[in-house]
Amino acid sequence: AVTRTFSIIKPDATRRNLTGAVTKMLEDAGLRVVASKRIHMSREQAEGFYAVHKDRPFFGELVDFMISEPVVVQVLEGEDAVKRNRDAMGATNPAEAADGTIRKEHALSIGENSVHGSDSDDNAKIEIDYFFQPEEIVG
Ligand code: CMP
Repeated sequence: AVTRTFSIIKPDATRRNLTGAVTKMLEDAGLRVVASKRIHMSREQAEGFYAVHKDRPFFGELVDFMISEPVVVQVLEGEDAVKRNRDAMGATNPAEAADGTIRKEHALSIGENSVHGSDSDDNAKIEIDYFFQPEEIVG
């Protein structure tokens, strides 16, 4: 089925002017950008988005990184969008990511790993709603 997922192009990628390169890899994977905006997240916004990780040892580092520079938040649409996007991203740790994936090509480390993608349809809906109003999504 055609579904939607939520993506973030992270600060390590926007900083290196890779917004277009990453978006091209998503498009080449069969995903369509149906909403996109460049934002500089507030600390509160980042802490809320990553609340599920708040007890992890890397939480502080993760939030500091995500607010260090602008990010690009996107809604992606395509056949099985969550899986399609996760396949295009590759493993969280770039050292384990397959050849040709975004993280293999561009990520710097497990933290500075260039992209975020929702891990389920339910979380995709929650994450899309966290950053976008319905009228900002134009399919
Ligand atoms: P993301 O998909 O955005 O969701 C949680 C993030 O935590 C994950 O991507 C990683 O970038 C980050 N992360 C996971 N493990 C570590 C770690 N050991 N150190 C720093 N960041 C991490």
